[in-house]
Amino acid sequence: MLMLGIETSCDETAAALVEGGTTRWLIRSNVVASQVDIHREWGGVVPELASRQHVRDICGVVERALADAGAGWSDIDAIAVTQGPGLVGSLLVGVSFAKSAAWAIGKPLVAVNHLAGHIESIWLEHGPISLPAVILVVSGGHTSLYLVKREGEYSLLGRTRDDAAGEAYDKVAKLLGLGYPGGPIIDRLANEGNDVAIRWPGTRLTNPDRNAPERDGRFDFSFSGLKTAVLRHVRQRQSELGVAQLPHAEIVDLAASFQRRVVETLIDRTFSAARWHGAKSIGIAGGVSANSRLRKDALAKSERSEIPVYFPSLALSTDNAAMIAAAGLRQLAVGRVAAADLNAAASLPL
Ligand code: KG4
Ligand code: ZN
Repeated sequence: MLMLGIETSCDETAAALVEGGTTRWLIRSNVVASQVDIHREWGGVVPELASRQHVRDICGVVERALADAGAGWSDIDAIAVTQGPGLVGSLLVGVSFAKSAAWAIGKPLVAVNHLAGHIESIWLEHGPISLPAVILVVSGGHTSLYLVKREGEYSLLGRTRDDAAGEAYDKVAKLLGLGYPGGPIIDRLANEGNDVAIRWPGTRLTNPDRNAPERDGRFDFSFSGLKTAVLRHVRQRQSELGVAQLPHAEIVDLAASFQRRVVETLIDRTFSAARWHGAKSIGIAGGVSANSRLRKDALAKSERSEIPVYFPSLALSTDNAAMIAAAGLRQLAVGRVAAADLNAAASLPL
C-alpha cells in the first residue's frame, strides 16, 4: 500500500509518501514547506496568512513528494489528510485538495486526527512497541497523555487545562524578545544557563477541571501559572534594572530554570501515568519532543525505571505528513475511510 499523506493544520504545508501495511511503514518521501519566516515577523501564526500560503504551496509540495519517491499519481493507493484539530482555514486547504485528488484518481480518502498522527510517529520511527503504552503528545497546541492498549486505539488520560507546553515556550520567548518559534531558541539558550537560578512557585492541580468535572484530572497539566510567574519575574527585573532587554546572563538562567520546570512536569506526569496503568513502554511525540533536555532526562529516567521511552526522530517530531500517512495506513487497514463530503474540524477531539 502506498499512502499519500497531506498535512496543513497550522503553519507547515506537508506531503509525504509512506509505504506499508499494518505493522511496518517505510517513508518514501517527506516534504515540509515551513511558513515560519512569514509568521516570525508577527510573533506568532497569523491564520489568514497561513491559509493563503497553504494555497500557494500545496500543489508544489505534493508534486515534490511524488518526485522524491519516484512515484506517479497512478502508484498511490489512498490519500490521508489531517481533518483537525487546527486552524480551520488551513485545514480546509488540505482537506479540499485531498478530496479532489482522491476523487480524481478514484482512490479512498482517509481522515486523520492530527494528534493520532503525532502518536503514530512513534510507530513510524520504531515499529511495534510493547503495549500497553503511555504516549505524551506535547506540541504548540496540545499537551495530552494517551493510553494505547491496542495499536490504533487511543484513550485520553490527561491533558493541559490551559496552555500547551509549546505555547508556554513560545510566549516566554516572546516576552524575552527572543523571536518565534520560542521552543528551539529557549532550548539552545537553556544549555548556557543555571537551571536552579530561579525558583518558580509550584503548580498543584488538586481541584477538578471546571470544564469537565466528571473527568479524572490526576494526569492533567497546567502551564499558565508558570508563564505568569515568568512574566512577573521579567517585569520586576526590567524595572529594577531600568532596561527593556534583560542581560544575556539573566536570560540564559531564566531559560534554563523555565525549561527545567516544564521538562520535570512533563516527565513526572508521564511516568506516573505509565506506572499507574502498568505501561510497558512510553512514547513522547509532538514539536516539544524535539527538546534536548526532555530527551536526555526522559531517557535517563527510563534507564532508572526500566520502562523504555521512545521518541520520533527530529524530522518526525514537528509537524509533517509522514505521520499523517502512517496514521492513515493504520485506519485504512481496518476499513475506516472518509466520505466525499468530509469537512475540516477545527476542534476535532481524540
Ligand atoms: O508539533 P508542532 O510542530 O506543531 C503543533 O502541532 O503545535 O509543535 C510546535 C511547537 C512550538 O510551540 C515550538 O516552540 C515547539 O513545538 N518546539 C520546541 C522545540 N522545538 C519545537 N519546544 C521546546 N524545545 C524544542 N527544541
Ligand atoms: Zn502538531
